[in-house]
Amino acid sequence: MDERQLSFDELQTELTNVEKEAKRRIQDADTLKSLEDVRINYLGKKGVLTQMMQLLGKMPKDMRPKFGERLNELRGKLEAMLQDRHAFLFQEQEKARLQAETIDVTLPGKMPARGGRHPLSIIVEEIENIFIGMGYTVQEGPDVEWDTYNFERLNIPKHHPAREMQDSFYITEEMLLRTHTSPVQVRTMLQMGGKTPVKIICPGTVYRRDTDDATHSHMFTQIEGLLIAPGIRMSDLKGTLLTFARRLFGEETKIRLRPSFFPFTEPSAEVDVTCSQCGGSGCRVCKWTGWLEVLGAGMVHPNVLRQNGYDPEEVSGFAFGLGVERIAMIKYGIDDIRHFYQGDRRFLKQFVAGDRFL
Ligand code: DAH
Repeated sequence: MDERQLSFDELQTELTNVEKEAKRRIQDADTLKSLEDVRINYLGKKGVLTQMMQLLGKMPKDMRPKFGERLNELRGKLEAMLQDRHAFLFQEQEKARLQAETIDVTLPGKMPARGGRHPLSIIVEEIENIFIGMGYTVQEGPDVEWDTYNFERLNIPKHHPAREMQDSFYITEEMLLRTHTSPVQVRTMLQMGGKTPVKIICPGTVYRRDTDDATHSHMFTQIEGLLIAPGIRMSDLKGTLLTFARRLFGEETKIRLRPSFFPFTEPSAEVDVTCSQCGGSGCRVCKWTGWLEVLGAGMVHPNVLRQNGYDPEEVSGFAFGLGVERIAMIKYGIDDIRHFYQGDRRFLKQFVAGDRFL
């Protein structure tokens, strides 16, 4: 706008043009940034309207109020238009931002690596469930055990040659890592204080000074069983073990008892099951005998009953102890006991969340 004096009409036209032009530019602004440029262009310190305000001073006095009023009116209009456009553009920008940030919930997720249960835990639970089904309860005892519970109260006095069957890790003179789960029998009997029935199984880790190889480990897992009640006989033991073997290895399974010796049972037996690989006809797993030895058992020795608060004249009982690794090896065809302890994922991942893929 030039500096010469303008007539009122000319000024009116000028204002109308400014308004039109501004309106168009506001509508055309498609970003907040370009809208801001438009605002500065019209309403800024050196903006079009500001400059027109300055013209007021140079106008004939009588024109000033009218023109001033028109200018203010225009300023108000422009401000309102700018505000509307700003609101619109801001909303558009937010919409675009939210759209860009949306999460596609239909995309496949990243699966977390899922751990599996250890095969020994699976087998222990399976065996526990078989016995729970027959009315047994599960008892546990400490891995560090008193010599008296591990040996003496099981009819294995100090210097008894039977101690050599189970070479031990001693902690003190009187304390050791338990060599079997049989001390849990002692603990339970003492706890029950002569009451019957005692009907328990006791899973746990045991320790022996053995040299590790494919079939031996200095640390392994046992499950002990004990039933004490009036009138318990060897036939009860046999029936219980047959039921157990069939549930674990299949209904076709047969068992046989061979005479043996354990200080805490009399009579004692080694118990074999028909080979689950060949069904008894003979194969590599059973060394062509058709049978697999899986546990030791017997009738609880009167000395053990007596020493732990039971009267052998009134009650009798049977006990058994089985090696879990051996059973797992037979059941899953595992050829080396060390696999259970080496934590090799290629081995472990074959047992997933309770389901065996073998
Ligand atoms: N404690 C025996 C061992 O570790 C296993 C055993 C055999 C336990 C006969 C028993 C039993 O309760 O009656 O070799």
